Order: sequence, then structure tokens, then C-alpha cells
Amino acid sequence: MSGLLEGKVAIVTGAGGGIGRAEALLFAREGASIVVNDVGGSRAGDGRSQSVADAVVEEVRRAGGKATASHDSVATAEGAAAIVKTAVDAFGRVDVLVNNAGIIRDKSFLKMDAEMLDAVLTVHVKGTFFCSQAFARQVIAQGGAGGASGRIVNTTSVSGLLGNFGQANYAAAKAGIYGLTRTSAIELQKHRITVNALAPIAKTRMTEDLPMMQGVANMTPEHVAPAALFLASDLCGDRSGLVLAVAGSRVYAYKVMESPGRFKDADEGVWTAQEIAENWDAIAKFPGT
Ligand code: NAI
Repeated sequence: MSGLLEGKVAIVTGAGGGIGRAEALLFAREGASIVVNDVGGSRAGDGRSQSVADAVVEEVRRAGGKATASHDSVATAEGAAAIVKTAVDAFGRVDVLVNNAGIIRDKSFLKMDAEMLDAVLTVHVKGTFFCSQAFARQVIAQGGAGGASGRIVNTTSVSGLLGNFGQANYAAAKAGIYGLTRTSAIELQKHRITVNALAPIAKTRMTEDLPMMQGVANMTPEHVAPAALFLASDLCGDRSGLVLAVAGSRVYAYKVMESPGRFKDADEGVWTAQEIAENWDAIAKFPGT
């Protein structure tokens, strides 16, 4: 039986551990040639180790799949270009990009410093931006007679979509990835590149010390990887700009909604602040609520 990614070339960033590793192993089993990208740093993004990506490449190969390692950081335009070049040099093209690399530097809002904000925004927002741009340019360049086509899977979080204590930097970054997903989905549609986001919850080194993860055995990266596979494969069709969430046995979705609101007639003047206060319940009423 042929796999869902047979003949495709997929880049998975941050694939040296956690969710990215599970995605890389599953995509390889589904027939993709994989670029396993990872800088091999700590949870906070300090340090470097090539062996982290190399070990997952070995795992893929031992299972009969095709993979090559990339140790470049997603966080710069040069690093992103090098990651895409690694794919093209090894396998001749790119078809799928999973922007999964990430770090955390948690602290309550009033205690967070500029460096903690910069580091987290850089890896998540700039990393997703630069890798997506380099990937999309390559997809368009390799287009050929049938035209371009590609699939980008970004990684957002409930933290950015709904908020979470102690993660102002990370929430801003993950909400930024949501905005980037929406806008790049619109702009890349004409090049037949779908851009969707995954909002996972899984027990990894990033989350293992959270109270909610203690004693939890059924929220693994392997629960998340099939959702990434769906978004990376032709099963996704032309769906784009969506957020698919997965947490253990639960699969669900997020979207931002706009209420119908209230209108004034042309001769009624502008809405005053007092009128907004008086009409708040009607202005903020969503269909079905
Ligand atoms: P993880 O820490 O195991 O994996 C992240 C990987 O990204 C690490 O291997 C790390 O070395 C790599 N990385 C960090 N900076 C990099 C850079 N500049 N360039 C290349 N690689 C880099 O954590 P986990 O949980 O697997 O996280 C994967 C993604 O899922 C992240 O984007 C994270 O924010 C997101 N996420 C995870 C959740 C969870 O419950 N585990 C919840 C919501 C989102």
C-alpha cells in the first residue's frame, strides 16, 4: 500500500525530539524523504548539539526510511535558506514544511525581561516566517509544467490562542504564528501552497513538569503526529488557514470569530463610548450564544 507522502520531500524543524521527532518518523513511514532539522539546544534554547538531529536520522534509516540531518537554526533568514538547501541538495525538491521548532522561557508578565521576550519571539515568529518564505520560494521555483504545490504546517498553541499564565512571550509568539498562518495562507493560495496550523498538547520535555501532565500517559507526541500528517498530505485538500488541535484522544479546531455587531443609520452619528457601554451585550453577541 502506498503511503500518504510517497515521493514527497518534507522538512520538519525541531525534529530532534518531542512532537517533531514523532512527525518525522511518521512522515518517513508514509514514504516521505525527511530533513530532520534541529539545533539540539536546551528547552530554553541554550547550547547546541548535532547528535540530536543525527539520532533521529538514524532512527528513520533503521526503519527503512530516507532522511538527512540539518543543524541550522530556523531563527535567521540564512539558517532557513540553508535548511531548504539541505533538502534540495539531498532530495532535489521540497513539498512539505513543518514549522515545529520552539523554545520556552516562562516567567510571570511583570518579571519578564526583554531578552526572554526577544529569544522566544525570534525562534517562533521569525523562525516560522523565514522558513516558510524560503520554502515557498523554492516550491514556486521548482513549479514545472504542473505548476507549484506545497503544504506548510505551522505550530501554534492554546497559550497564544486563549492565553496562559506565565507565558506572555510564548503566547505573543504563538498568536503571531496564528496571524502569519492566516496571511500566508491567503497570499500563497495562488501558488497552490496550503498553510495550516496545529495546536498540540503533548507530554514532552517542554511540558513534562506541568501539574496537568503528572501521571498522564495518553498525551504523547505520537497522538499529535497523525494530525500533522493530515495537514501535510493531500487528505487536507484545499483547506488552508485553519487551526487543528489535538490533545491525546481529542481532536478539535479553533477559529477567531467576528460578531455581527450593531449598526447606526447614517444620520445617527458615530458610536459614543457611553453607547458602546450601554449596548455591549448586543455588540458582543455571537451567533448561537
Ligand atoms: P521540544 O523541546 O521537545 O522540541 C522542540 C525542538 O525544537 C527541540 O528539539 C529544539 O532543539 C528545537 N529547536 C529549538 N530552537 C530551534 C532553532 N532555533 N532551530 C531549530 N530547532 C530548534 O518540545 P515539543 O513539545 O516537542 O514542541 C514542539 C512544538 O510544539 C513547539 O513549537 C512548541 O511550542 C509546540 N507546542 C507544544 C506543546 C506541548 O504540549 N508539548 C503545546 C503547544 C505547542
